[in-house]
Parts: sequence; structure tokens; C-alpha cells
Amino acid sequence: MKDYTIVVLGCGVMGTAVSSAILKAKFEPYPARIIGCTNSSSTNALLESSLQHEIFEYSYGVEANTKAVSEADIIILGCKPYMYQQIYEEIKSGLRGDQLLISLLAGTTISELEIFTPYVAKVMTNTPARFGAGTAAIAFSKLAEEKYEDLVLKLISPVGEAFKIDEKNMDAATALIGSGPAFCLLMMESLIEGGVRMGLPWEVAKLSAAKVMEGTAKMALETKEHPAILKSKVCTPGGTTIGGLLKMEDAGVRSGIARGVEEAARISASFAKK
Ligand SMILES: NC(=O)c1ccc[n+]([C@@H]2O[C@H](COP(=O)([O-])OP(=O)(O)OC[C@H]3O[C@@H](n4cnc5c(N)ncnc54)[C@H](OP(=O)(O)O)[C@@H]3O)[C@@H](O)[C@H]2O)c1
Repeated sequence: MKDYTIVVLGCGVMGTAVSSAILKAKFEPYPARIIGCTNSSSTNALLESSLQHEIFEYSYGVEANTKAVSEADIIILGCKPYMYQQIYEEIKSGLRGDQLLISLLAGTTISELEIFTPYVAKVMTNTPARFGAGTAAIAFSKLAEEKYEDLVLKLISPVGEAFKIDEKNMDAATALIGSGPAFCLLMMESLIEGGVRMGLPWEVAKLSAAKVMEGTAKMALETKEHPAILKSKVCTPGGTTIGGLLKMEDAGVRSGIARGVEEAARISASFAKK
């Protein structure tokens, strides 16, 4: 595909995060235009103030968005999951049947999204995408996989790390990747509060907690070691770390977090059944 146009249909938090990542990246073939679509002029004005680039354009309202869709080779769908059918009805006269749809929606299945086109890639990513530190799991419809797998990986990889999964695992990915930042932030808050409780100034505790989480993630990724092995290496016999870990295990931190992921995946699966 050459000199192609991407329309971000629903350019809110996630649509902007993915657009920003693409605009900061270099790859071939690169899009010639990206059009960010919103419903209202007020959100569009906010988009214009937060995202500016020579190939990025703005659109709002049914008429302009339908025109944008008719000019699109690729549509990135970034609306809330419950809105996709209404938006489909609004813009369907702009669809050609050969366009690629990249969906960022939680829950909504590939077969539901095939009303737009048979070429569907379902992406589950997260808000750190905005900083190039996101994670993206991608499942494809059969036709999209055959024709567009490489292009979708090139477009989505700039969010951070992108990989293919089976659609049956999308609810688990939604819980771990989509909701994951909130789970990590809860852990970050807890570390900060522990530090503050023991006398650290809040800013120092926040910087320490964030860097510890960042550094630990980097260590796990770069060494490729199992977390349990890395953890045992910092547990001096009779020391502070093993003491702290046992208190956390007593409070059920491990199963609390694992069950939280399970619950988020269960809720994601229930969206698809509605
Ligand atoms: N936020 C996360 O952490 C996260 C993580 C993983 C996945 N997701 C998925 O990402 C998707 C988007 O979430 P979000 O948080 O980015 O939502 P959001 O910020 O509310 O963005 C939704 C966008 O859709 C636009 N929109 C609404 N109606 C429209 C219409 N008729 N035509 C065109 N655009 C329309 C909105 O514009 P107006 O403001 O003008 O209405 C807004 O720009 C969701 O499906 C969610 O499941 C989100």
C-alpha cells in the first residue's frame, strides 16, 4: 500500500495515543494522511491543541466524518465499544468493502466488526502507548491476516511492543494490557504510601516507586529470567525483603492481583455477549 490515508474514527484518549505513536515513528510504507475524527467540535478543538503534525488533519460531525471514511484506506476505530453500531450507521455510505479496519475497542469481537469490512484487525493496547511504552496484542480476521499482517504490525509497533495473539485470548489480554496500567498504578500508590508512612517526602516516594517499577520491568525483560528467580536473588536470608514479602503474602496480595485480572477478563467477555 502506498500513499495511503488513515482515518481515526473516534480520536479520543486511545485514538490520540496510537496516532501520536505513529506520527513519532519512521517506517515504510508511511501514511500520507491521518485524519482524526470526533463527534463534537469541542473535542476536535482539544485534539487540534494536543496533536499537530503536517500529515494530521481533523474532522468532526457525521457529514465530514463520512467523507473522511470514503477517502480512507485504513480506519482505526477508537470509539467506546457501545457506540460502534451507531457510528457504523452514520458513516456506512463512506465504506467501500476493501478497507482495513483496526479496532481499539475492548470486548467487541472481530465478527461483530466485520459489518465495516471483512479486513479486521482487533488491537488491545493501553494508555502508555502515548509515550511509546505501550503493549499491543493483535488478532486478525482471516482475510486481514493474509493481506495486512505486516502493515498492521508496522502501524501498531510504534506504541511500544506489538504481537499477535489468538482472538480467544483477547479478554485476558484486555485485562492484563488494557486494565494493567491501573493495576500497576494501584501498586505504585501502595509503595508510595508505605514510603510516606515511614517518613519519605511524597515526591521522593513517588519518584522512587515509579523508577523501581520501571527498572524492575526492564530487568525482567532484559534478563528474560522468571520473576521468582529475580525475586529470590534480592532476598537476603533474615533480611528486609523477605520480611516485607511475607507480610504482603499474608495479606493476599498475590491472589488479589491475579483474581483482579481474572475479574477484568470476565467483565470484558460479558461485553461481547451483550
Ligand atoms: N482508555 C483506556 O485505557 C483504554 C485501554 C484499552 C482499550 N481502550 C478502548 O479504547 C476505546 C476508546 O476509549 P477511549 O478511552 O479512548 O475513549 P474516549 O477518550 O472517550 O474517545 C472516544 C472518541 O470517540 C469519539 N466519538 C464519539 N461518538 C462519535 C461519532 N459518532 N463519530 C465519531 N467519533 C465519535 C469521541 O468524540 P466526542 O468527544 O466528540 O464525543 C471521542 O473522541 C474503547 O473502545 C476502549 O474499550 C481504552
